[in-house]
Amino acid sequence: MSSLHSLLALDSRPIDESYISELKRLLKSGIPATYTLEQAAAHEAGQEDPEGPEFNTTPLHILVRSLPDDVSDQESKTVLEMMEVLFEYGAGWNFLDFEGKSVGDILWDRRMREGNILYERVVEAGVSAELLLRKLGELMPQPSVEEETGDGEASNRDAAENQETYLNSDLEYTDSALVTKDNRDGVMMDWETDIMRLARDSMFKYGDTSSETGPVVCNIGFGMGIIDTFIQERSPAKHYICEAHPAVLARMRQEGWYDRPGVVVLEGRWQDTLSALLDAGNVFFDAIYYDTFSEHYSDMLDLYDTVVGLLKPEGVFSFFNGLGADRPVCYDVYRRIVEMDLRDYGLKCSFEPVQLSQLPSWKDVRRPYFACETYYHPEIRFA
Ligand SMILES: C[S@@+](CC[C@H](N)C(=O)[O-])C[C@H]1O[C@@H](n2cnc3c(N)ncnc32)[C@H](O)[C@@H]1O
Repeated sequence: MSSLHSLLALDSRPIDESYISELKRLLKSGIPATYTLEQAAAHEAGQEDPEGPEFNTTPLHILVRSLPDDVSDQESKTVLEMMEVLFEYGAGWNFLDFEGKSVGDILWDRRMREGNILYERVVEAGVSAELLLRKLGELMPQPSVEEETGDGEASNRDAAENQETYLNSDLEYTDSALVTKDNRDGVMMDWETDIMRLARDSMFKYGDTSSETGPVVCNIGFGMGIIDTFIQERSPAKHYICEAHPAVLARMRQEGWYDRPGVVVLEGRWQDTLSALLDAGNVFFDAIYYDTFSEHYSDMLDLYDTVVGLLKPEGVFSFFNGLGADRPVCYDVYRRIVEMDLRDYGLKCSFEPVQLSQLPSWKDVRRPYFACETYYHPEIRFA
């Protein structure tokens, strides 16, 4: 173990200023703030740095793992300063240690969660890192599929990641899910039913509820039609549905959605169909709900542009919030990012925590896409 790692084991109490000065001294002497236990072990064994190590147990991991259970408020403040110093020297927030845990995961497991100064600092670091990555992405745009494969074929890309691949994939409706046929990616699953009901309730809570005709609402992404069925229970004046996948559109036709009074099916990607509505300038919504597949947060950023143009002043926008939901700490990071981004549009986002009564079973799909016990349901309105 290096002197840096030993210091962060917090063997002597109380955890006071002396830790901070010693930490600064060690980092100034040239020990990297990202120096891992795995690297130290390799050096001690006279080996080269492990190349692309599977695990990165960083100084920050050691620090949060070493926090005593009875840490005092004053000691927590000192540890916060130590974290600050480590971040200043380049420590990362999302490396995974020998147990596959990030620093935030360890704090979470130790029940140091929202409101805890150390957890909040990690979330803040996550937000900064994500925003920086986004900026870098804007400066260095990703190559298109064609540029990357050189042959213009999208089929070698993952349908869950790449929209073109997804829209060309065969789908299958099972008893409880909509999945891609080849890879068994879960496009939609019925464990989300309660969430869809809650989202429908939000859609009818504000806006033009008093008018004789009723509200005009828009759902982006039909999937299994769960939310659209709930929406129909409230008989809106107009119910727009955006859907891009041919197999889903075929299912909608078969189930008679095209013939339902007030239902308008916008065939194609919302990026095209809603932009056309925006250009026409004669339809505005009391509520917009967004839940697609194989899209990324960058698509949501584009959607915000559209939403502000199509939402009535009293209207509400919501979406299926699975952003970063493979880890509670990432889920918290993305909640902050969403709030910040929407604020730039003059929109205010409030999240309602919902304890999930039915935890998802992933046995029939390739990979889980939600690993948190609490779902944060967003309601977004003009501030
Ligand atoms: C998760 S499912 C929606 C589930 C739906 N909320 C429900 O209650 O069943 C996602 C749907 O969005 C559709 N979709 C994906 N990308 C789209 C896009 N860019 N424009 C329109 N629809 C899209 C998919 O084909 C799929 O039917």
